Amino acid sequence: MFITLEGIEGSGKSTQVPHIARHLERFGYSCLVTKEPGGTAVGKKIRAILLDPGNAGLDAMAELFLYEADRAQHAGRVIRPALEAKKTVICDRFADSTVVYQGAARGISVGIIEEINRMILGDLKPDITFLLDLPPEIGLSRAWRQIESGLRRQGESRFEQERIRFHEKVRQGYLALAQKEPGRIRVIDASGSQKDVKSAIEAELDRLPGHK
Ligand code: TMP
Repeated sequence: MFITLEGIEGSGKSTQVPHIARHLERFGYSCLVTKEPGGTAVGKKIRAILLDPGNAGLDAMAELFLYEADRAQHAGRVIRPALEAKKTVICDRFADSTVVYQGAARGISVGIIEEINRMILGDLKPDITFLLDLPPEIGLSRAWRQIESGLRRQGESRFEQERIRFHEKVRQGYLALAQKEPGRIRVIDASGSQKDVKSAIEAELDRLPGHK
């Protein structure tokens, strides 16, 4: 099974990923937790370029291809082999992030992005995606608190420095995707406590067909 988490900055994805793994492992699933960008050794180097606030002048197309390069390496070397070994892969961000951040928010043609994703991924698609939804004002203030308290590195703040309007486009882009694919994308209200978000996700997991 392939599970992905999506959402704006500060939506709490990284907190929920280990909870999901622990919940599924209790039912006997063997889980691999990973993320994009940065799920491989090469990907970590690409991530550092992408999130460096010093790279504010990064061209939108250069940005797109860096995310896709990270994904090609990650899908080929980590995700596919794990799925073939019958593991459950839980990935913090995946192809929907590119459709929404580089497409809906940066304005690159979504058709082109989908074509590149198809080229890289073929038929690889998440079975279920949790979209952690909340207003960008709340998400960004959480994200900045994490940066200021040292929980997240200042060196990774390029996207937090985008204006609120950018993050609103990201949020709306995600909600539009969820409307297009309601079977795969489950919208979770992420404005509440971590505990409430965890329970909402677990309730969805327990309803999955084939769940033991
Ligand atoms: P995160 O690891 O904290 O979620 O940060 C990754 C950042 O990269 C986040 O701001 C979203 C952005 N991003 C894209 O713009 N496009 C993508 O395809 C992916 C995977 C992430």
